[in-house]
Amino acid sequence: MKVLGVSGSPIKNSNTDRALKHALESTGLETEFVKLADYSIAACKACLGCVKTNRCVIEDDGILLAEKARAADALIIAGFTPYSSLDSRTKAFIERLYPLRHTHGYMAGKPGGAIITCAVPGDNDMLPPACDYGVNAIKFYMMEEGMDFVGEVRVKGNVPCIKCGHGDDCAMSGITMLYGREATVASVGVGAFEEQPESVAAAVELGRNIARTLQAK
Ligand SMILES: Cc1cc2nc3c(=O)[nH]c(=O)nc-3n(C[C@H](O)[C@H](O)[C@H](O)COP(=O)(O)O)c2cc1C
Repeated sequence: MKVLGVSGSPIKNSNTDRALKHALESTGLETEFVKLADYSIAACKACLGCVKTNRCVIEDDGILLAEKARAADALIIAGFTPYSSLDSRTKAFIERLYPLRHTHGYMAGKPGGAIITCAVPGDNDMLPPACDYGVNAIKFYMMEEGMDFVGEVRVKGNVPCIKCGHGDDCAMSGITMLYGREATVASVGVGAFEEQPESVAAAVELGRNIARTLQAK
């Protein structure tokens, strides 16, 4: 039994990566971690060139990544939420799994899960619910392919302004936008997946759910 984990976060050893690795380890099974930024993958052209062959006509790493997904027994997809929607690498990866659909449904029945890192705090109802949009993008892909969606992890990530060097003097600072006029780089601080017990527990649960579902098959 092999579980594939795919991270769309381009940041080195990011919260998204670490949450995904935690979930993969929690399966207790053989796993593979893929960082999409290490690959070249274009968006689907919607040309339907994959219908007869189950193979994309775009000759980039999307072919190899779709093969990895086809060979895996389970799939966890992890992304983040620039401008309140799923990041473009993760979205392109999902689109490029379309060749696995036609007539065979190669992903159908496999357990899957979603991990999303977003900067908007869950209790901020003045801003778009970025985490919901990110999770749903992954969840709906899995539902549409007949996969067995077994869990999700939400990680509170860092607004980039925490690290850019101008978080306290920029008129466009996301820190005050997210946390109010009095908020500063120091008062908000850098958030880490490991310091979020609910997210860590959800990652463990996702991994265990994947393993349990596979073992029950
Ligand atoms: C260009 C850009 C735009 C962003 N816009 C949003 C946003 O609209 N909502 C949000 O929740 N986070 C937003 N973020 C923050 C990311 O979700 C955040 O950086 C995330 O924690 C990165 O996770 P990582 O460290 O795992 O890569 C944005 C980040 C970038 C780089």
